[in-house]
Amino acid sequence: MIDFKKEVVNTIYNIENSLDKEEIEKLIEVPPNYDMGDYAFPCFRLAKTFRKAPNLIATELKEKIGANEYFEKIENVGPYLNFFINKEKLTETVLEEILEKKDDYGAQDIGKGRNIIVEFSSPNIAKPFHIGHIRSTVIGNSLYKICKFLGFNAIAINHLGDYGTQFGMLIAAYKKWGDKEVIENDPINELLKLYVKFNAEAEKDEALKDEARYWFRELENGNEEAVELWQWIRDVSLKEFNRVYDLLNITFDSYAGESFYSDKMDRVIKELEEKGLLKESEGAKIVDLEEYDMPPALIQKKDGSTLYITRDIAAAIYRKEHYDFYKNIYVVASQQNLHFKQWFKVVELMGYEWAKDCIHVPFGMVSLEDGTLSTRKGRVVYLEDVLKKAVDGARKIIEEKNPNLENKEEIAKQVGIGAVIFQELFNSRIKDYVFTWDRTLSFEGETGPYVQYTHARANSLLEKGNFNIDDDVDYTLLKEQDEIDLIRLLYNFPNIVIDAYEKLEPSFITRHVVEIAKAFNKFYNSCPILSSEEELKKARLSLVYVTKTVIKTGLGLLGMEVPDKM
Ligand code: ARG
Repeated sequence: MIDFKKEVVNTIYNIENSLDKEEIEKLIEVPPNYDMGDYAFPCFRLAKTFRKAPNLIATELKEKIGANEYFEKIENVGPYLNFFINKEKLTETVLEEILEKKDDYGAQDIGKGRNIIVEFSSPNIAKPFHIGHIRSTVIGNSLYKICKFLGFNAIAINHLGDYGTQFGMLIAAYKKWGDKEVIENDPINELLKLYVKFNAEAEKDEALKDEARYWFRELENGNEEAVELWQWIRDVSLKEFNRVYDLLNITFDSYAGESFYSDKMDRVIKELEEKGLLKESEGAKIVDLEEYDMPPALIQKKDGSTLYITRDIAAAIYRKEHYDFYKNIYVVASQQNLHFKQWFKVVELMGYEWAKDCIHVPFGMVSLEDGTLSTRKGRVVYLEDVLKKAVDGARKIIEEKNPNLENKEEIAKQVGIGAVIFQELFNSRIKDYVFTWDRTLSFEGETGPYVQYTHARANSLLEKGNFNIDDDVDYTLLKEQDEIDLIRLLYNFPNIVIDAYEKLEPSFITRHVVEIAKAFNKFYNSCPILSSEEELKKARLSLVYVTKTVIKTGLGLLGMEVPDKM
């Protein structure tokens, strides 16, 4: 595909090589609207070299450039040279490229031969998988897909919270009051009850706390009974989580959670000691981070047990050795900013230069219309229930709008789940947002169903118009403003994917796909397609096809499925 920005660079470089190509490229701007051109080159920088006013330089450059096949117009406005893309060339290059590459349009190999870890979701076992978990789960999955699309060997890791002192409590509680059958019928709720009861009782009875500590130590020491109970708790929890992952169509390459590092921490503690980083503090071992304006990292408690942060350090070292990652990405709520800053620092102090390749991708909070969620207050909203409710809602709408649709159940699932994912990825991740049902399931406005519906509409046009991908098509017939606007958006799609990767921000793609859908509907309303004369009809159907293809790819990168009919 023609890279018009590169052509701006070449054009300027050919007549004025006092700047190198990279410098020129950096100077190029995108004007606020297309009336001012597609690209603008400011001449301030050249003013020094030529000792002339930038306006004058712009005028002279314009004269020298003359006509250029890639640009229909090059204007100088004050100190700027404005470049207007040749629309015929744009149309031709975009349509040919997408028709050839299809689902791979926008894919790249910048990640070839590089391992990138995306750690996401990572819920705590024996605890509800609630609506708050949607963020890491869905943002992480999208980043994973984006990395793959750009050619990285991406590795999705679910760093399960399956270790720590709370399992001492759970084991102790189970041994006191637990009933296997009851738990197996409704694992998470029953385990949660046990956990809550234990905490309440322990408030009154110190001895219980000792019991919990005892059982966690036994677990760390490999006591058979403790390990067996823990393993069972992990299994039943994971079974529940997997129901949600199935609904969301998410898979992981590894479930190596915190417990996986239980035998890899001694080495870390030893290493920290050898490197002179550990200090004793009231019997515990810490890394002092005062110099970096942070509270100390607590590595080992007085009773010898390790902590969350210790496991994160061990995990990072293991991952470097095992995967030799290019980047190690953590999609974790912004509440844990300090935690990540602390242990990234510890790893850096240990002398690992790859500390800089560990990246925390934080995000804000999600709340429901009726207030925030809290596990402790018992107002838990299960993610599974939200997803099911979304599917129910979609099913109802389909019943109303299109009762004769085939595969209704499958499509209700794609639309309902897709709606939730789309809303989740619509705003920049760092913002808090309120989850609202009305907006999520609406077919109008900037929603998942709206974009999916646009895709289905495009599909039905292609069917009705007997679109044939092998037809010879005269793309130059596509000249209407609404056509050009749509084609421009399709042209920009690959760059948007790169931006989303660089900023680790799936919402760039969400927003762009909505823009494409809007532009498509505008085109659809203003340009007759099926009723146009044969050649124009063929050209417009090609545009419908490439638009549909890009929408599908874009939604796929968000982790959404895209029904052909709705
Ligand atoms: N299990 C933790 C929680 O639910 C999140 C884990 C985040 N990942 C990590 N490597 N610390 O809060």
